[in-house]
Amino acid sequence: MSNIFFVKSKINNFNKKISVSGDKSISIRWVLFSSISNGISKSHNLLMSEDVIAAITTIKKLGAKVKIKKNFCQIKGVGINGYKYRKNLIIDAKNSGTLGRLILGLLVNSPYKIKLIGDRSLSKRDFNRIAEPLIKFGASIKLYKNKGLPLTILGSSNLKPIKYYEKKGSAQCKSSVIFAAFRTNGKTIIKAKKSRNHTELLCKYLKLPIKIKKQKNFDLIEVNKIKKINPINYKIPSDISSSAFFIVLTALFKNSKLLIKNININPSRTGVITILKMMGVKIKLKNIKNYKGEHVADIFIESTKNLKPINCPSSLNSGSIDEFLLIFLVAAKANGISTFRKLSELNEKESPRLYWGSKILSLIGIKNQVTNDSIKIFGDPNLVIKKKIVIKNFLKDHRVFMTSVIAALTFGGNWKIHDKDSIKTSFPSFLKLINDLKNVN
Ligand code: S3P
Repeated sequence: MSNIFFVKSKINNFNKKISVSGDKSISIRWVLFSSISNGISKSHNLLMSEDVIAAITTIKKLGAKVKIKKNFCQIKGVGINGYKYRKNLIIDAKNSGTLGRLILGLLVNSPYKIKLIGDRSLSKRDFNRIAEPLIKFGASIKLYKNKGLPLTILGSSNLKPIKYYEKKGSAQCKSSVIFAAFRTNGKTIIKAKKSRNHTELLCKYLKLPIKIKKQKNFDLIEVNKIKKINPINYKIPSDISSSAFFIVLTALFKNSKLLIKNININPSRTGVITILKMMGVKIKLKNIKNYKGEHVADIFIESTKNLKPINCPSSLNSGSIDEFLLIFLVAAKANGISTFRKLSELNEKESPRLYWGSKILSLIGIKNQVTNDSIKIFGDPNLVIKKKIVIKNFLKDHRVFMTSVIAALTFGGNWKIHDKDSIKTSFPSFLKLINDLKNVN
């Protein structure tokens, strides 16, 4: 079957209630925590995407037992130091930076050398950022080419606690260091720039020895050795990053309304909502609840005329880091010039996303200027596309594919978008949900 997706017409107006799939960050963390717990953990609504399946394949190789039925999953953990595996093991993190970086923190005491590999996109990404702190703990990590994959890790039985300053706002590095600290005698201290805190919330829920002091731009996190983790039963809330495609589709299209049910609205992830509200998008959170330390809500959006440009405070970057391609589309339709700064981390993702954001804008005829890590977008409230647009060679970045589909459905034009399969990474039901919306009228 062709891996190209064609869009030849805009969507029709819709007024609907939908559910999107489980949160990717929480799904991967649940799989990894369960693998080192003592007993059987169960989850509902686990995201069954390629990134999460890669995490499940990995923990099976390390000795955990897994049963899956649709999106119910059961994992029999091996205990904190119970990973058992053959020599010369290869772990394939596929496209997942989260799996690739987090699993290394759990392997800092591995008795045999393990090789970590990934797909073409992951192999280009920076693993030095996590190798450095893990080497300080005492693990041996060898990177073969520059800072990307493959790498090998050989653990140590004599790990030393570290002081680690995480300056990039990387939740993956912070979480990996927390995992390594659990295996280390003594107190590890992390000073971490604000980033998503699902790992810390799970630690607190599990009553693990972790202390967090919140400061203005940083968190100070103290982690001690653990002996045991209880199993975790978890109903994974839906993913705000996946919802964002439908939030922006509704906001940009005319005369439509959408309710998206049971979304994780952890404040470290809701930057996209804050930014869209600042741009005038009609968006409301309803039915807010606490679930095991995380917050969930239904999100209601209405089509919005008169979108305002934004001078986006960079303090909102980390909480919306996976949504910028979509936010740029909203800026394209705003009445004026928007500016976004300090976005160097965007180019560290599955593809260089600052480059791709700018490229999509240029292809749809929106003037934009990129300087180092900033972008200026000259919005046009009357934007309509009539020409042919081809999107390809984007390292199969799922978010580039899905953002292009949203641009096509809202702005029009005749689109040929390559690598449809990329949605399997994070949001396999994306095109089915789009189709369901298309067919409502
Ligand atoms: C993630 C953290 C972010 C994010 C990624 C998922 C996580 O990456 O972009 O999609 O689950 O910890 P960084 O930690 O590299 O910022």
